[in-house]
Amino acid sequence: MRCHAAIYAEHLQSFHHVTSAAANRQTLKGDFDSANKFLFNDHLLIAAEKKQDSFYQTAYSYGVPKISRPFDIVVGSGKRGQTSIYWFGNYLFQLPLTYFAETDEWTISPGYSRKVDFNRSITARCLECHSTYFQEVTNRDSKADEFSRTNFILGVECEKCHGPASEHIAFHDKNPGEKIGHAILNPAKFSRAQSLDLCRLCHGGALTKTKPSFSFQSGDKLFDYFQQDAGKPVSQMDVHGNQYGMLAASKCFKNSEMTCLSCHDGHKNESRQAAQFYVKCETCHKSALHNTCKLASTVSQDYLRINCINCHMPEEASKAIMVIRKGESIPTSAHMRSHFITVYRDISKQILSVQK
Ligand code: HEC
Ligand code: HEC
Ligand code: HEC
Ligand code: HEC
Ligand code: HEC
Ligand code: HEC
Repeated sequence: MRCHAAIYAEHLQSFHHVTSAAANRQTLKGDFDSANKFLFNDHLLIAAEKKQDSFYQTAYSYGVPKISRPFDIVVGSGKRGQTSIYWFGNYLFQLPLTYFAETDEWTISPGYSRKVDFNRSITARCLECHSTYFQEVTNRDSKADEFSRTNFILGVECEKCHGPASEHIAFHDKNPGEKIGHAILNPAKFSRAQSLDLCRLCHGGALTKTKPSFSFQSGDKLFDYFQQDAGKPVSQMDVHGNQYGMLAASKCFKNSEMTCLSCHDGHKNESRQAAQFYVKCETCHKSALHNTCKLASTVSQDYLRINCINCHMPEEASKAIMVIRKGESIPTSAHMRSHFITVYRDISKQILSVQK
């Protein structure tokens, strides 16, 4: 913060920073006053409740309170949803209600059935993607992961991408005139594989670990820590959490040196700015250098630019982030961008039919 004030300020607005935090009035999403209940079945109801400055989920059976657990840590920015977890000894468990942004309401947490028992345990791998660090506490007899209640860093923060930084700070405090960064990693200088592996740690879908969670550090080879699998066809990938897999199947990726940084900035919150991304596409798809859109002769350039992403990276319903709403049996999905960049003929036709 003292030295990189502008980046620090940007980072505070990013989804990485807010993807986990201590649960409190500022960080919690969802209604605690009136629309705060979810009926699990005929006689079981869960309510999100506020008691002074503390927040709880309480299960009522036939109107009688049975079990109540605090919101300790929130997981998820709330752009699509937010789940909350609580400490029980050294274990972390997920609370049964999750806030779902698509419908702005409480729903059953993914993984819970209608028989709620507050006992879905949170694994180290879950936290590896949603925080910077948790110290695992070994206990050979226990099947679930145990964590230190004091040694953890919430949010995906600077050191996750830049490596441990205390030496860097000590060096530059002693040598204030030195302008070249010492004892710090800059992903801009990584090889293509290193750069992709860093993002793929958390945006590469489910991976099976071969080393303890949190051993991978920025700059490392991902498959020194995880099993390399054969991969699935794009049609079986989910838009949630596997941007790497979908992108890697695209011709853009296969026929260029593209990384995530070809379109994304490590720090900025670029959400809901899809219309501006055509600039990134045009770094390659400019007529002089490359093939361009086949529609360029039939519609205006402005039109192509504004709709570029909607035609070639459409939003799709996730099969992984979906919930059952109150009184419904068919799940409702969150929608996310497909990173499989290609020609979507039906979607393009639909978009063209609305306006040219
Ligand atoms: C430690 C895990 C982790 C790493 C490493 C990581 N991300 Fe993320 N990233 C996340 C999580 C978790 C979210 C979702 C945050 C949320 O909304 O709760 C996210 C969100 C994002 C978003 C979306 C913000 C939005 O608009 O919804 C982008 C873009 C992104 N990451 C790009 C990257 C890139 C590029 C890299 C590599 C330089 C990277 N991430 C590395 C975990 C990670
Ligand atoms: C999700 C990963 C990620 C996180 C978190 C992150 N950075 Fe970065 N940072 C990058 C990437 C990737 C680059 C190189 C590309 C770029 O400049 O965007 C970078 C570049 C930088 C640079 C060099 C910029 C330049 O102009 O040369 C500085 C300084 C920096 N980051 C500081 C920070 C600080 C301070 C934080 C925390 C407040 C932070 N970063 C958090 C990924 C990250
Ligand atoms: C392999 C990394 C990974 C693992 C493991 C993982 N997540 Fe995520 N999660 C992500 C990424 C990346 C996003 C946001 C982008 C996306 O959905 O593709 C996300 C999104 C979310 C969101 C929605 C946030 C928002 O508003 O967009 C919630 C809530 C969430 N995860 C909770 C969890 C919980 C709880 C666990 C563990 C039980 C878990 N995740 C395991 C990577 C992961
Ligand atoms: C780093 C360079 C680069 C960037 C950035 C890039 N592309 Fe590409 N793209 C390519 C290359 C190379 C090909 C393959 C050309 C070929 O097949 O000869 C390609 C192919 C395509 C194709 C044809 C795919 C198919 O399956 O037939 C489409 C559509 C496309 N790009 C759209 C986009 C869009 C939209 C963006 C921005 C979101 C984008 N590209 C960004 C390099 C890039
Ligand atoms: C209205 C939807 C739409 C928009 C907007 C659009 N495209 Fe396309 N694009 C298409 C369709 C449909 C095709 C396939 C046309 C065909 O094969 O006849 C295509 C083809 C392409 C191709 C493949 C050309 C080849 O050699 O086969 C590229 C590259 C491409 N578009 C890039 C872009 C970029 C970059 C933008 C934004 C600046 C963009 N497109 C905007 C619908 C769109
Ligand atoms: C060719 C450009 C391009 C590349 C390369 C690219 N992205 Fe994206 N990404 C986008 C666009 C466009 C969006 C949508 C932004 C919006 O809707 O505001 C997006 C959105 C996202 C989101 C938010 C998901 C959502 O639907 O809200 C995440 C997470 C993300 N990208 C991660 C990654 C990661 C990780 C990589 C590398 C594996 C990557 N992206 C590579 C263009 C790209």
